[in-house]
Amino acid sequence: MSAQTIENVIAESQEAAPICRSSDLLPGWGEAAWLEGRQIALFRTEAGRFYAASHHCPSLGAKVMARGILGDATIEGQRVDTIACPLHKEVYRLDTGICLNADTEALAVYEVTERDGWIWMEQGA
Ligand code: FES
Repeated sequence: MSAQTIENVIAESQEAAPICRSSDLLPGWGEAAWLEGRQIALFRTEAGRFYAASHHCPSLGAKVMARGILGDATIEGQRVDTIACPLHKEVYRLDTGICLNADTEALAVYEVTERDGWIWMEQGA
């Protein structure tokens, strides 16, 4: 996609903006990004699903979530993707941010979609 095309798409969209190429994210890994004054963590699962969350772990406030451990859990018969904080291993759902193994505030998560080889994230989240 050319830069001009991206600008046109941005102008058309009031709800989402491209934040990186999907190929910038390796399967099974996370990357930290700086977006509008915030640190966010971007993830691509081995199965090719994309997620965005705060890079800031709600447990003790460490900015480490992009270096977390991707995994999954089965909850009420449904498989959900998870991220475990690399410090104290609290596990958060990547779809809702809810912590699964501690009474901790939820991790902030953001809606992302893949389109035309780019990862788009909701604006103002
Ligand atoms: S800082 Fe994340 S679980 Fe402790």
